[in-house]
Amino acid sequence: MKFTRGNLFIRKQIDLDKIHDSKQGLEKNLSAFSLSMMGVGAIVGSGIFILPGILAAQYTGPGVMFSFLLAAVVCSLAALCYSEFSSTIPLAGSAYTYIYSIFGELLAWVLGWALISEYLFAVSSVAVSWSAYFQNILAGFGLKLPTFLSAAIGTSSVHGALFNLPAFIIVLVIAFLLTGGVTESSRVNNVMVLIKIAVIALFVIVGAFYIKPANWHPFLPFGVNGVVSGAAVAFYAYIGFDAVSTASEEVKNPQRDMPIGIIASLLITTVLYTVLSTVLTGVVHYTKLGVDDPVAFALNLMHQNWVAGIVSVGAVVGMTTVLLVMSYGGTRLLFAISRDGLLPANLHKLNRKSHVPVINTWIFGVIAAVFAAIIPLDKIAELVNIGTLFAFAMVSLGVIFLRKDPVLGHVEKSFKVPFYPVLPLASFFACLYLMTRLRRFTWIAFLIWLVIGLVVYFTYGYHHSIARETQTED
Ligand code: ALA
Repeated sequence: MKFTRGNLFIRKQIDLDKIHDSKQGLEKNLSAFSLSMMGVGAIVGSGIFILPGILAAQYTGPGVMFSFLLAAVVCSLAALCYSEFSSTIPLAGSAYTYIYSIFGELLAWVLGWALISEYLFAVSSVAVSWSAYFQNILAGFGLKLPTFLSAAIGTSSVHGALFNLPAFIIVLVIAFLLTGGVTESSRVNNVMVLIKIAVIALFVIVGAFYIKPANWHPFLPFGVNGVVSGAAVAFYAYIGFDAVSTASEEVKNPQRDMPIGIIASLLITTVLYTVLSTVLTGVVHYTKLGVDDPVAFALNLMHQNWVAGIVSVGAVVGMTTVLLVMSYGGTRLLFAISRDGLLPANLHKLNRKSHVPVINTWIFGVIAAVFAAIIPLDKIAELVNIGTLFAFAMVSLGVIFLRKDPVLGHVEKSFKVPFYPVLPLASFFACLYLMTRLRRFTWIAFLIWLVIGLVVYFTYGYHHSIARETQTED
């Protein structure tokens, strides 16, 4: 077998007429509103209910909102680049598909593989937090799971743990919901997102009465350096908006709705994070915030136990929507990769009645459920960040090549990145910079994951690629 540059970097040919033919592929049910709800659903989860406390205590002090703002700026830059791509190439698979059509197969595969890790580990890590909050609520009713079923083996805070049963079950329930079809799932999502926003608002309103401005001094005890390192971690809280772009093929009017959906969801979440962290650090001194459930902790400190209970229920609901959208994104990514022949064909088989890739949904669900049940994911939460930052960096650079592309460069776009080429380049470097702030362990794990991906590609994908088959026929 000869690997020539030509065929390793073969590019996906985008048939723009086919994209607009609604009889092909997945059903088109989603509006800009559903997309924004999907974005907020995907973004606001364990991040808002856990990170503000840890960040304030360990990285930033009361100025934690600056880390959230900085992470939001980096995400917005990447979001603008995503939007230009998704309004040009509205196909399932998001960044993977974009890069396939611009940089060719090998880089697309590497990126797709990184994104699979993002979705899988995001679902697993959020399921673990979901399980912790869920068990807190059970404890409020005097119920307790046997220790061996309460957390993954090796979880440092729980001795005798073996298998995280609630995390395992919730991921499978989500897979079941998704097999019911996207309309039902997005309706469930919309209701849950509203509940989530309501409990965050409840915390902010109640908390505002208990703010002691003295808690905000000193405002930045760890300096600007702390804010920047904090931003690389805070980034986790924004992960998910890219899942919105994986839904392009199911959107009624992707050229208009996709940028609106992505940008609106980022704006809403930035407001939620900054307001919540401002109130949180105003109520509790930052030195006391390094706990697993800072929001409930603050409410208990205010003797608002009822509100704490309600907020915990909202947190569980909030994390459920993240699980829903991230699982959805993961399955659509597998769908797109398999449709291109780089993974086995069963993964893009649609159920005749529901038009949903049922087999792939169950495979993704079972793998994520097993990870959630047996791995303590605190160490690899950063792995979610590194895969995502890598994808954002490639998409940002991709915009420059997209504009120069002889065919795609001339497609009429409803959305173009402003301040071109400064903005895409700024986005590219900002993502790379945040990657450098992540731990050594994260880098090593990420590189091992990429090597496994390359083995899979050269043993399977390379030989089954549809793009290469078509090229051979030519
Ligand atoms: N952004 C997601 C969350 O915070 C991963 O839960």
